[in-house]
Amino acid sequence: MPAAKPRLLVTRRLPADVEARLARDYEPEFNPSAAVMAPADLVARAGGKDGLLVTPADRLDADLIGRLPASVRIIASFSVGYEHIDIAAAAVRGIPVTNTPDVLTDATADIALLLILGAARGAAAGMAAIREDTWKSWAPTGMLSTDVRGKRLGILGMGRIGRAVAHRARAFGMDVHYHNRSRLDAGLEQGARFHATAEELFSVSDILSIHCASTPETRRLVNATTLMLLPKGAIVVNTARGDIVDDGALIEAVETGRVRAIGLDVFANEPNIDPRYRTLENAFLLPHLGSATVETRNAMGFRALDNLDDFFAGKEPRDRVRA
Ligand code: 8YV
Repeated sequence: MPAAKPRLLVTRRLPADVEARLARDYEPEFNPSAAVMAPADLVARAGGKDGLLVTPADRLDADLIGRLPASVRIIASFSVGYEHIDIAAAAVRGIPVTNTPDVLTDATADIALLLILGAARGAAAGMAAIREDTWKSWAPTGMLSTDVRGKRLGILGMGRIGRAVAHRARAFGMDVHYHNRSRLDAGLEQGARFHATAEELFSVSDILSIHCASTPETRRLVNATTLMLLPKGAIVVNTARGDIVDDGALIEAVETGRVRAIGLDVFANEPNIDPRYRTLENAFLLPHLGSATVETRNAMGFRALDNLDDFFAGKEPRDRVRA
């Protein structure tokens, strides 16, 4: 008799090809609705499951992890970020946690460039002029924005995505600077200039692009004080996590002109974003599209399944994350 397939709770619907592989190799229980599962529902549905396949929309804090049934032996996240899971609390319960690095690096870096260009070139106001039919004549001085060529791009967090953004930015003629917890070796730096502190990086960033993880140290790192360090008229772009930015401070900096334009793909409290963003003319905003391509979402799902496959085959999952 073939061995029973591991039972999984899958908290969100996933791309069709990913669900097909899930159904082939596991006994999945899918979320019956398109909405995020309430914590009590998640805990109840976890009963009798061997593992959980979750997303950043699910908040697995210490309380929820403490209430998971003993049957749950692994949590695989369909994401590279894992700030939504209390890794230490999972470790206390002996539950490994995995993520999906690498496979969304290019898609996210592409969106960062879209935001940099969109913010620098006034794309939001331009699109509004077309949609609202307010574009009445071309003028030599109309809708002037700023070139990215020759600008200093400050990359906050020079991990995989930060480096992929640096690579693209060089092709656009930007001068790359970065801050990271530790300095990269020359092969990875590719000529980018290291700054030992975030503050030092801010002070040279004509364009600041955020690529660090959300941690207690980085939460609200972009705030009223640090924004004042930016050169006047700087551009701020975020494709990492919304809580790294203090919304009120950033909005005020745009309103006063301290910050010329912003490009955001991520927000605190998504999708209930600070409504003041909607009325800023020079804000190029996207609804968390960083990894939202068919190819990338498939690759993320397959990577999460590879981790589950390893675990249930008795191997150490490749993408196990540590507290
Ligand atoms: C989305 C992301 O949140 O992987 C991450 O950490 O931020 C994005 O890719 C993810 O696709 C949602 O599951």
